[in-house]
Amino acid sequence: MKLVIWLAALVMILAACGAAGETAVSTPLPTATTPATTQGRGMMGMGSGMMARHNAPVPEEYAGLANPVPADEESLARGEEIYTKYCVVCHGEAGMGDGPGAANLDPQPAPIAHTSQMLGDDYLFWRISEGGAHDPFNSAMPAWQTAFDENARWDAINYIRALGSGQMMPGMGMGRMADTEAAQRAAMLDQAVSEGVLTQDEANQFDTVHALMDSLMAAGPPATGSMGQNQQQMLDDMVAAGTITQAQADAFNDIHDRLLEAGLMQ
Ligand code: HEC
Repeated sequence: MKLVIWLAALVMILAACGAAGETAVSTPLPTATTPATTQGRGMMGMGSGMMARHNAPVPEEYAGLANPVPADEESLARGEEIYTKYCVVCHGEAGMGDGPGAANLDPQPAPIAHTSQMLGDDYLFWRISEGGAHDPFNSAMPAWQTAFDENARWDAINYIRALGSGQMMPGMGMGRMADTEAAQRAAMLDQAVSEGVLTQDEANQFDTVHALMDSLMAAGPPATGSMGQNQQQMLDDMVAAGTITQAQADAFNDIHDRLLEAGLMQ
């Protein structure tokens, strides 16, 4: 009960931040579940924080968990309700990390519609259950294990995956997600080139390999594992299949790390 009231207050605070625009207060919200962010705001600090997050191994008590709830219409409807009530404020309506409460958070809310396509069931369930109030995350991501039961957490996972796959798309219409992502990626790469983080050639290479990965991801999300593991697995699979060369895979990882370090992507 207390938690519900607290959440309502949080949502209001965050909504207010959003409404007030850029000027609103910076993170630490005054509660145990939302710790001060310890990653520096400096570029390197932010980058290595992101890399650590990205590669965090799933703890033993969660590793290998598989979603027992089929992503049918009922589950997606329940997931949408949870998402709208608890998650939209930070992660945004389309799940791209741009909710009204996101502006002042560091680290920023993850674009979970997208990242959930590359994260295992076990990883997502762990993160939603335990939140980010600990290393290596140190984020404002709340823990939800006492707010709603396990099945509801699986419903939420079904919903965020469906958001990203284009199955569910509030206010955007079918098929728009892929376009939006490609446009965002193009803008991010332009910025990387203009800031001297990448050469134009590297940006092109990255874009090509990323587009190939997107088409692999369309086949469905991985069952387990962190993003780092699954990204490496996809690259290895593409090299094995002869879709890309080992040199392209290595270059992709190198470029990816530099983009993270520069704070240009998560
Ligand atoms: C107060 C803002 C806030 C709210 C509300 C919130 N999140 Fe998050 N969430 C974050 C931030 C910030 C991150 C990125 C840092 C991290 O991974 O801890 C994040 C990360 C995540 C991740 C990890 C994704 C990845 O790419 O690593 C998942 C999954 C997630 N949130 C799901 C949810 C779900 C589901 C809800 C609603 C039940 C929710 N979040 C509500 C702020 C929030």
